[in-house]
Amino acid sequence: MQKDLRPAVIAGNWKMNLTPAAAAALIAEVRPLVADAACTVVFCVPFVDLAAALEAAAGSNIKIGAQNCHWATDGAYTGEVAAGMLREIGVEYVIVGHSERRTLFGDTNETVAQRTRAALDAGLTVILCVGEYLEQRKQNITLETVRIQTKIALAGVSAGELKRIVIAYEPVWAIGTGLTATVAQANEVNSGIRALLAELYGKAAADGVTIQYGGSMNAANAEELLAQPDVDGGLIGGASLKAADFARIVAAAQ
Ligand code: PGA
Repeated sequence: MQKDLRPAVIAGNWKMNLTPAAAAALIAEVRPLVADAACTVVFCVPFVDLAAALEAAAGSNIKIGAQNCHWATDGAYTGEVAAGMLREIGVEYVIVGHSERRTLFGDTNETVAQRTRAALDAGLTVILCVGEYLEQRKQNITLETVRIQTKIALAGVSAGELKRIVIAYEPVWAIGTGLTATVAQANEVNSGIRALLAELYGKAAADGVTIQYGGSMNAANAEELLAQPDVDGGLIGGASLKAADFARIVAAAQ
């Protein structure tokens, strides 16, 4: 089966939620619930929570990620965090190009590409977010939109480095709204992204890439979404803050 060619990845995106103490408590609660997971389990947490999260997850199958990184290795960038700093403390994943970064904090396709490059250079695995606005879906340019986002972000990424890229398709209208793409919509875009990857890197490499769906994925709808042939995991916002819900989504990925 095609899905066996790539690891399923369920990643929580906590956004700007939970203090370090609360982070440690949630990970302690989730840990036993996902100990037998057949998929990769990741929590992407606020920068200040990273140390506590890494400590709470030590010795478990939970991997820790950040939610952004800067494109430079160091320098005069007040308030920013470099990918190498994340890697040095044991962070393995980083979200790049989340729609909230694009919409609220000025990220563009070009800066997303730069951040992706820096994260790969530092040895991190990138969760690259792409997705259309509702207006773009109405104009029937969803696939064009995610193709442009994906292509620009991957412009400098080699076939070897593609193994450290996870793509998260997140329709912006579905994020945090309770609206979810239908399984057909999610699978159609994910398979369109995979077709683009095949154009760029060949079919074998494309078949090896994990492509998640994100946008109000929850304990109730995860199983149906994850059963789609091109939905290889999920990037989970709200539902990742509740241990039982998150564990149910992880269980649905096996
Ligand atoms: P949501 O967020 O699950 O709360 O919709 C998903 C995301 O922003 O990654």
